[in-house]
Amino acid sequence: MTDATARYVYPGEPPLHEHLWPDTARVSPEGRLSIGGLDVAALAREYGTPLYVYDEETLRGRMRAFRSAFAARWPESAVAYAGKAYLSLALCRLLWEEGLELDAVSAGELGLAQRAGFPAERIHLHGNMKPDNELDGALEAGVGRIVVDSLDELARVAALGEARQRRIAIWLRINPDIATETHVSIQTGHAGSKFGLTITGGAALEAARRAAASPWLNLAGLHAHAGSQLFDATPATRVIETLATLAATIHEQTGSTIRELSPGGGLGVAYLPDERALAPEVYAGAVCGALRTASERLRLEPMRLTVEPGRAIVARAGVALYTVGPRKARPNAITLAVDGGMGDNPRPALYGARYHAALPERMNAPATESVQVVGRYCESGDVLVQSASLPQAKPGEILAVPVSGAYHLAMASAYNLVPRPAVVFLRDGRARLVRRRETLDDLIRLELT
Ligand code: LLP
Repeated sequence: MTDATARYVYPGEPPLHEHLWPDTARVSPEGRLSIGGLDVAALAREYGTPLYVYDEETLRGRMRAFRSAFAARWPESAVAYAGKAYLSLALCRLLWEEGLELDAVSAGELGLAQRAGFPAERIHLHGNMKPDNELDGALEAGVGRIVVDSLDELARVAALGEARQRRIAIWLRINPDIATETHVSIQTGHAGSKFGLTITGGAALEAARRAAASPWLNLAGLHAHAGSQLFDATPATRVIETLATLAATIHEQTGSTIRELSPGGGLGVAYLPDERALAPEVYAGAVCGALRTASERLRLEPMRLTVEPGRAIVARAGVALYTVGPRKARPNAITLAVDGGMGDNPRPALYGARYHAALPERMNAPATESVQVVGRYCESGDVLVQSASLPQAKPGEILAVPVSGAYHLAMASAYNLVPRPAVVFLRDGRARLVRRRETLDDLIRLELT
């Protein structure tokens, strides 16, 4: 075995890699995993599988950790959760209760948040291609900020402002030309990325000039996002330096004073036992330190700082539960099939993402083999866990995959017409079904004959 996880195949392996599971995860002396005071396998049997469970205490804990980490280090800060990581009515209510703002990227995300009672002025709208009706709808709803991604869009927003006889508050999305060490598909701040206005090409400054000249635009802030699943804060601090320098140039050249700055999101999480992510406090320390240094050096007006974590808030709170099916011996691996896969979690197929897995009814049993957990979808690439060290799993057993809370359900599809999973929130020994399992009726409801 050359796989990094293979070395965990030995008797006496710790039953729980705590940094991969929700805060309330416990293992009973009998080896049963519970979350939020509830037996995980029993939940899987009650609600059926695949099932996604979220621990509310972990969700709230991560929201508070980010809020307090930034509030303690910067006079005026906001944490705007990136809804693309996972959004539901239930989650929106928690976000609102915990004082977060929201980064939305579509009329869908915006509309769902509004239905949950989330005020539109606490939402900012991203996107490199915002259809006219979505832009108009967002203005109608009264979103707090439109994040303008191109010169073309700037003109469209100004025209919409004029049509409404209203000044629109915008941020400019900047392409900071910063490389990151992460999967190529989730690098967003390099020069070749489709996102944002370039600095070297002059588009960013030109946009600032046009915004300053328009009576319908209020250039409130600058934004950039370097990439996702990052294990160090350097890209974020470099984004801060780049944006601060641009803010100073804009002031010099156009007279506009930028009062808001956002280095986006991107803080990574551990998916595997030997990975470790930065704590929100460490990340906040680096980001706020960079902003302090740049502000002093460039003599900038006090800035409102907005960060946009997605994954780092929800990933570890969520656990995916599957039922184990057939097992096969293949030349390179033993495969274990489960009743989910790339439909509910496309990340392994899209990014080669790696995961940990466990049997929640036998957490204390020593791992005796390394298996490849494969999904049920009709594609050879539907491998959910490349290498899982487990006791020999029997058909019908429940398999749990931790760190499943971000970019699974949000990117899930009904491929092969397999219904999407149900979602249960857990808290203080109580389970709350927050999304029912999709049905065949749901899947064919939009068909016309
Ligand atoms: N802000 C902006 C402008 C973004 O584009 C993103 C993510 C975020 C914030 C939140 O980033 P986070 O804190 O979650 O890393 N589907 C991929 C991740 C795509 C991220 C896209 N943008 C994955 O599963 O790894």
